[in-house]
Amino acid sequence: MNKTTVNTHGAIIPTIGFGTWTLRDQQASQLVKHAIDCGYRHIDTAAMYDNEQAVGAGIRASSTARENIFLTTKVWHTNLAESDFLHSVEASLKRLDVDHVDLLLVHWPSKTTPLAETIGALNKAAAMGHTTHIGVSNFNAALLTEAVQLSERPLVCNQIEYHPMLSQNTMLNTSRQLHMAVVSYCPLCRGGELFSGNPVAMLAQKYGKSPAQIVLRWQVQQDNVIAIPRSTNTERIAQNIEIYDFELSVEEMQAISALGSHQKRLCDFDFSPQWDLPGSKTPGTRRLNPQAP
Ligand SMILES: NC(=O)c1ccc[n+]([C@@H]2O[C@H](COP(=O)([O-])OP(=O)(O)OC[C@H]3O[C@@H](n4cnc5c(N)ncnc54)[C@H](OP(=O)(O)O)[C@@H]3O)[C@@H](O)[C@H]2O)c1
Repeated sequence: MNKTTVNTHGAIIPTIGFGTWTLRDQQASQLVKHAIDCGYRHIDTAAMYDNEQAVGAGIRASSTARENIFLTTKVWHTNLAESDFLHSVEASLKRLDVDHVDLLLVHWPSKTTPLAETIGALNKAAAMGHTTHIGVSNFNAALLTEAVQLSERPLVCNQIEYHPMLSQNTMLNTSRQLHMAVVSYCPLCRGGELFSGNPVAMLAQKYGKSPAQIVLRWQVQQDNVIAIPRSTNTERIAQNIEIYDFELSVEEMQAISALGSHQKRLCDFDFSPQWDLPGSKTPGTRRLNPQAP
């Protein structure tokens, strides 16, 4: 089982991408170039990261043509009304210095802008040629189901926090029912205790891999799961994509998944939606904005 891409509604997305949150300026350009030269073909940025110009420069400096890179950007939750949305996308394209991105995401759902308006703007951006594929990020199962119903074009993914310390069974089940990918952000839970504890440390020893490689292998060995680790360290960037030469057993996958009962969430803000209950097999029902159509 060594799939290096996920195909969802015609979007062929590399299962390991390079995350760029917190990377800025020349460092961001150099690390994006390095990641591509190491074999990454999927780069994740966002208008909010304040690094799109540097990310675009890194892609151009690499040895790989733009058309071979799957590039994602996102629109921040304060820009989800139609005119703000389209303005944000056009500004992103200008900063990246590209004529389109491969995937455009709604970064977080809004508590004030009607979802129908935002999903309409997302579709309009695709119709205008600004993006090849569309999707969302940080949607709960109820919002995701509603967004799919509102969208003319298929939504190819929901980018959410997912790592061994945070069970996402509800979203994994919902996404699979909707034939969508889950793109895991904070896929390494930013390191720390996860790496030194069992079973990750024990499996790292068994396979002669680093704890990060065990966790990333666990990510991509799941159906329709894609991971976008970030690192500022050139050796770790290279290491994080070298995960296709070994396979975890069913029991080992289950042992890592069992850590999800910790429900450790790193990204939770006052604008977050109500998160799905851990382990629930049915989508949550609470609408984020009951007034929205
Ligand atoms: N949609 C959203 O709302 C959202 C939210 C958060 C993140 N994201 C995206 O997801 C990406 C990844 O998430 P993240 O950056 O928060 O967390 P992450 O990738 O889970 O963790 C990054 C941390 O792990 C360390 N690390 C990376 N590779 C390692 C390795 N092989 N061994 C040991 N430590 C390692 C890095 O340290 P070093 O730099 O020292 O290697 C860094 O401190 C972001 O960059 C961003 O693109 C999206």
